[in-house]
Amino acid sequence: MQEPAPSRPVARVLSGIQPSGALHLGNYFGAIQQHVELQETAGGRDHAFYFIANYHSLTTVHDGAHLRALTRGAAIDYLTLGLDPAKATFFRQSDVPEVCELAWMLACCIGKGLLERAHSYKDKTAHGVEASMGLFCYPVLMAADILIYRSTVVPVGKDQQQHVEMAQDMAQSFNAAFGKQVLVRPEWRFSKSPTVPGLDGAKMSKSYNNTIPLFLPDGMTEKQAWKTYFAAIKTDSKGVDDPKDPNDALMMLYRLLAPAEAAEFEPIYVRGGVGYGEVKKRIHVAYEALFAPIRERRAKIAADEAFVEGVLREGAARARAVAQSVMDDVRDVSGIVLAAR
Ligand code: TRP
Repeated sequence: MQEPAPSRPVARVLSGIQPSGALHLGNYFGAIQQHVELQETAGGRDHAFYFIANYHSLTTVHDGAHLRALTRGAAIDYLTLGLDPAKATFFRQSDVPEVCELAWMLACCIGKGLLERAHSYKDKTAHGVEASMGLFCYPVLMAADILIYRSTVVPVGKDQQQHVEMAQDMAQSFNAAFGKQVLVRPEWRFSKSPTVPGLDGAKMSKSYNNTIPLFLPDGMTEKQAWKTYFAAIKTDSKGVDDPKDPNDALMMLYRLLAPAEAAEFEPIYVRGGVGYGEVKKRIHVAYEALFAPIRERRAKIAADEAFVEGVLREGAARARAVAQSVMDDVRDVSGIVLAAR
């Protein structure tokens, strides 16, 4: 497929998923739910691209078997949670190796000061992470992911906003360097609920150890889950009769899991007359109602290797056709020559 001229780009939603093991409610409500919703309105699978960012994982994972397992797990998770291969193009980043080529070409058109300003890089090094060149160049590879498909909309969490803005800068720098509009400016978009509170009330995140998983760890019973997660959500010392804050962590979680029920419950909560324990129970019930059926679905999909591989293979073929067409233009303006195909 020849991509249309960059002056009139196809509307294309794109997002990358860095596989990180067990998914939690923060991943689901902060990102996955929006990805799945966007596939409904994007206008078909040429307009909604999602990929598993396994090259990005190499910044932290140096164990082949583990990375393979993480990549496969992420594919199964997304297919379980509603990514529909009839509505979206779903693939592995590494099945379009041209992104690494474009990353190099972008790197040659930007100053290293741009990367030195990246918050996520600065945070990590400030916390003592030894920076590899890969970690430093993370935003360049991410920009290549976005620009190689001439993506127009990039749904991300707040922590990734700056990376998308850097991709805007890189598109402009590349176009300016070669004097031609080849790459298209992408726009970021936040999900409706970009921050999900964790067990301690801070943002739910693997690195804060405060997560509620989507799929319970193997062998964990419902009762254990209640004790480990739901009963453990931190609250203040208000008694049953005290009026309570409708925007505390408990209500935020309740609203995410069961919006209609939570809306009905809110006035009682604000007035006073119910204890925190009651809300925690409601949250646990809502969680089970939402995710218990999905657990069964995950087991079925995980057992069907041919299905999962088939989806990724087909997705890769579609994505790669777009990438190759854009790379033809990129190589053409920059004078990088390949033997005739
Ligand atoms: N950096 C993103 C994250 O950690 C993952 C990612 C990689 C991505 N490439 C991307 C997101 C391109 C959007 C677009 O969440």
